[in-house]
Amino acid sequence: MSDDPAADTAIRRDRFSGGPAREFLSSLDADAAIFEADLAVDRAHVVMLAEQGIVEEEVAGEILAALADIEDAGHGALPDGEDVHEAIETAVIDRVGADGGKMHTARSRNDEVATCIRYRLREDVLAAVEATITLRGALQEVAAAHTETVMPGYTHLQPAQPTTLAHYLLSYEGAVARDTERLLDAYARVNRSPLGAAAFAGTPFDVDRERTAELLGFGGTVRNSMDASAGRDFLAETANALATLATTLSGLAEDLIIFANKGYVELSNDYSSTSSIMPQKKNPDTLELTRGVAGDAVGEATGTLTLLKGLPRAYNRDLQRAHPGVFEIADDVREATEIAAGAVATADWNEGTLATAAGEGFSTATGVADLLAMAGLPFRTAHEVVADAAEAIADGDDPETAAAKVDEAARGVLGESLFEYVSRADVEQALDPAESVASRDSAGGPAPEAVREELSTADAALVADETTLEEARASLATAEETLAAEVADYV
Ligand code: ARG
Repeated sequence: MSDDPAADTAIRRDRFSGGPAREFLSSLDADAAIFEADLAVDRAHVVMLAEQGIVEEEVAGEILAALADIEDAGHGALPDGEDVHEAIETAVIDRVGADGGKMHTARSRNDEVATCIRYRLREDVLAAVEATITLRGALQEVAAAHTETVMPGYTHLQPAQPTTLAHYLLSYEGAVARDTERLLDAYARVNRSPLGAAAFAGTPFDVDRERTAELLGFGGTVRNSMDASAGRDFLAETANALATLATTLSGLAEDLIIFANKGYVELSNDYSSTSSIMPQKKNPDTLELTRGVAGDAVGEATGTLTLLKGLPRAYNRDLQRAHPGVFEIADDVREATEIAAGAVATADWNEGTLATAAGEGFSTATGVADLLAMAGLPFRTAHEVVADAAEAIADGDDPETAAAKVDEAARGVLGESLFEYVSRADVEQALDPAESVASRDSAGGPAPEAVREELSTADAALVADETTLEEARASLATAEETLAAEVADYV
């Protein structure tokens, strides 16, 4: 071997030392994220090679023992190399001698890295799924305690119709439940093994692709060997599922920031920050950062698709840059989801302020128009009456005063009294925010009993997703045990 460490690697010797481009070419640092994955992939491959009689059992044993030693030493102790695959192979050959080079029989770094990325990403996706389940649990719990807490609902950020805190929170619970679903969908496609595809064109060795897939806990293989080694759509799909979740979180965070500003909610100190100069300040920094993560996540999703767009088949080195950012954003989005869950679970809602605000801006107007329409007036005419009344009605008017103003408007539009159509008591009731909410009991609406029904459906869906997550993790754990047991037979 030469004195130049860059030339001492197993696969390049002194052929391509890299020169000034060496750092640029190397992914060794970023590959720390797939160090464990690569060891598992090496082990499964070597076990399969021995089972198929492609590599002698004794050599397999030596390679597997070397891999254990390399794992103990850690990623930081790897020899120099263009990437983790090359560095581990060099480290194996350093320990075993030339026979260590048999590890790379019937494979390429192309199918190897594609397998490592999927192996690692599975954990990240499942961790994100778990975080969404935690957040849904928090949203459901707070909602269950606030089915009767009336609050203003907005469109265009203008007071629109009164609703309840439970109804509002469940609107996000439903969105996060779909985020869970998208992540689990992506998981099913991430969880397929490309190993055995070799560079892209298969191999003359009698490899057992199903066996390595099984030893690594994959649900199946990516069949076409060119697709298997070059395909990264699973990265784009995962990044998009994460970006969609982050976008959901950013909306929730934005709302809570606005609600904190209005005094509707007070965040717990654990999820707030203060100012270095203004001692009275309590700032919703955690939610602002949560909102900010969406920018990075959307950037990553766009970046991934842009990188993949127009790549020719099969492997191209561009692909080396595709996955590290997705790993990173998976971490960030998972963390933001956990933070959002904590902020929701610990926040204090100011029911009095919410109730007062719920009636502001004549937010019961639609309910009054609905009442008139139910009494037989065309909805458009009812809308006109209430629109005229809205000009006269002021915040703080009691129901009696407000009802009189609606009647005045009716006389103007219809030429007769409102009370020809509806009773005074019914109009006064429709003007009350809590009564207004209670009347809207259509499926998925804010009336307390409709929300309670929604809550029980949401809880059942949560329990089902929890089971799916546990099963996915159990199946990975079983595969890990199987692989460890197989390896133990050789060393
Ligand atoms: N570090 C490379 C990557 O992440 C491994 C594959 C290298 N393959 C190659 N043909 N140069 O993509």
